[in-house]
Amino acid sequence: MQIVKIGLLGLGTVGSGVIQILEQNANDIQNRSQSQIKVSKVLVRNLKAPRSIAGDFTLTDQAADVLSDPDISIVVEVMGGIEPAKTYILEAFKQGKNVVTANKDLLALHGQELLDAAKEAGKDLYFEASVAGGIPIIAALKQSLAGNRISEVLGIINGTTNYILTAMTEQGRDYQEVLTEAQELGYAEADPTADVDGLDAARKLAILASIAFNSRVTVNDVYVEGIAKITSEDIAYARELNSTIKLLAVAKAQADGIEVRVHPAFVPDSHPLAAVSGVFNAIYVVGDAVGETMFYGRGAGSLPTGSAVVSDIIQVVRNINADSTANINCTCYNELAIKSEQD
Ligand code: NAP
Ligand code: HSE
Repeated sequence: MQIVKIGLLGLGTVGSGVIQILEQNANDIQNRSQSQIKVSKVLVRNLKAPRSIAGDFTLTDQAADVLSDPDISIVVEVMGGIEPAKTYILEAFKQGKNVVTANKDLLALHGQELLDAAKEAGKDLYFEASVAGGIPIIAALKQSLAGNRISEVLGIINGTTNYILTAMTEQGRDYQEVLTEAQELGYAEADPTADVDGLDAARKLAILASIAFNSRVTVNDVYVEGIAKITSEDIAYARELNSTIKLLAVAKAQADGIEVRVHPAFVPDSHPLAAVSGVFNAIYVVGDAVGETMFYGRGAGSLPTGSAVVSDIIQVVRNINADSTANINCTCYNELAIKSEQD
């Protein structure tokens, strides 16, 4: 069985989740990818920082150690930010590597440039983890709903703000105290103002709208308003109207273009998005053929986000294998006993 080597850029909340999942589900992942996936090198900023995760990989603070390693075929960027992440991803393509990233900040600004670079290099760029943590919404829009004309995408796509609004609504808790808790739980961005000001949701909406409407939408196109001004009075008023305040991301097809906005909204209790609480995210999509659909799950955190990254890695490995052998279209199952009758 072939070994596929991964170079990880970043070993924080998401990077640690990726390592943990690759280790704890190694047998299933091997069966599904028909390969042994091995993280061989990991780039970090501070080599001396204490790490909660260990493994059979080399830790480095030199990007070239990862990007120029000829044995590494997939670079997984989970360091965040625009630079140097963008330069590293472009360099990875130049070095003939496939890329998986969770970086919505980068994709929402430079997604097209990165996709063009991937195409030019003949390599893959996958980014499921960039929107809504563990929810497979990118794959759903790109593949499962590809036969639809999408008219509307409504989402709760920031876990931190939903966690804060839920705690304020259901427990009457203080905004600042809950934000600190969300940071400690690894939900918030390095700079949490991106969460509370709505920018993180706007970045994700730009990515979703680009795919749903086959258009180039960047974060600069999105109207953004955050939750910092929401008071307990607003929350009580919403309750009186049988509604819940949510930070909603809205993308709608209009006759003259696409409407894209992120702002707090009163969501009537009768709408399925009203029940989405805590760190959970949901995306409600309306297509002309499928009608209404909703995708629900954990929108942030180490393992949920790691789940999306690892599924992208497996897909890239399958693509690599499909390139090297025509005989890959089998579905490989574990040897499980299946009982169809009562004993
Ligand atoms: P994090 O916990 O802050 O970890 C970032 C990691 O990258 C750290 O290991 C850090 O090294 C390393 N790093 C950062 N800048 C670097 C540089 N210039 N050179 C070398 N290493 C560098 O971040 P995270 O929460 O895992 O998020 C990673 C990415 O996933 C971001 O794009 C984020 O938006 C996205 N994302 C996060 C979540 C989530 O729930 N956290 C969910 C979806 C997507 P040190 O450890 O040495 O500091
Ligand atoms: N800070 C982000 C959130 C992480 O709270 O949703 C997941 O993208």
